[in-house]
Amino acid sequence: MNDPLTFARPEIRALEAYAHAAWQPGFARLHANEAPWRGLEDRSIAGLNRYPEPHPDALAAQLAALYGVAPANALACRGSDEAIDLLVRAFCAAGRDAVLVCPPTFGMYAVAARIQGAAVIAVPLVRERGYALDLPAIEAHIAAGNVKLVFLCSPNNPTGNLMAAEDMRRIVAAARERALIVIDEAYLEFAAEDSLARLIAAEPHIVVLRTLSKAHGLAGARIGTLLADGRIVQLLRKVIPPYAIAQPCIEAAQAALAQASQLVTRERIAAIVAERERLRAALAPLPCVERVWPSAANFLLVEFDDAARALARVQRAQLLVRGFSDRPGLGRALRITVGSPEQNDRLARSLQC
Ligand SMILES: Cc1ncc(COP(=O)(O)O)c(C=O)c1O
Repeated sequence: MNDPLTFARPEIRALEAYAHAAWQPGFARLHANEAPWRGLEDRSIAGLNRYPEPHPDALAAQLAALYGVAPANALACRGSDEAIDLLVRAFCAAGRDAVLVCPPTFGMYAVAARIQGAAVIAVPLVRERGYALDLPAIEAHIAAGNVKLVFLCSPNNPTGNLMAAEDMRRIVAAARERALIVIDEAYLEFAAEDSLARLIAAEPHIVVLRTLSKAHGLAGARIGTLLADGRIVQLLRKVIPPYAIAQPCIEAAQAALAQASQLVTRERIAAIVAERERLRAALAPLPCVERVWPSAANFLLVEFDDAARALARVQRAQLLVRGFSDRPGLGRALRITVGSPEQNDRLARSLQC
């Protein structure tokens, strides 16, 4: 079989895509009811009086090259948040299908599922094994039938750990011809690990999510990429609205992908990784700190003797970090994003007793 669309909603497979205005650069555009003149303050390359490219294929090809896949295997989205939403809408029927998530993890998987009316099956990570995947429980749920999407986040937010490659391979094998495995690699640039996108050709039920929001410093432009089998990309092109990515964001992403920018990005990733380890070394010996979890991302999960008190101290230094008083098992933890050296020093100082 090996057709990843067998899991998709039949009505989405049958859907006819919206017929957008023709995209023919070089022709005068009298077919889309746009204004003929630019606005006074319009500094864009293409002109904001024009709709952007309906599906930004040139940008998608650049993103595909960045992530080492063919252009047909990449879909540019408004952040990986939109990729998550598209997957849930295309693959989960309300009231019938389910997604599987492994908390503590990124919250949007469950939120997108609930908006769609899909069930959320939670198989918690095993804290005692460094927040590892609970393979037998995941495999049992996949075998039971109605799980259409399994979300695995590696490095995981908020725990920071990479999932073991062998565990991922087992889940991919268990899901063959049953469900899509969605591997969220939002933080992979900060880890010493290769993307699992290289497996898509052999395992077309793997979907990988990447983003320019973290390592590439472009969170404000909202550019994510879904990497998948070409049939999945084509299906989701029918669901994503035309003109989804705004022209200033396309241009910002293309500038960030230029060679000179990528060199700077690489240097900055190395700087964040070095700062992460410097911050770990500064925090670990503090009397109020009980544990700093290993991290392959641009943040640290830190457990305190009293997280509320630590949060209050940090806030007095006018720093925001993420608390989890509402999340089971994470009540003593704060997630601290690695900032500039000055911010990291200020954070460590604020926690000195
Ligand atoms: C694991 C993970 N995936 C996806 C996202 C969303 O990224 P984007 O900005 O591309 O929507 C985040 C944002 O924090 C995240 O932590």
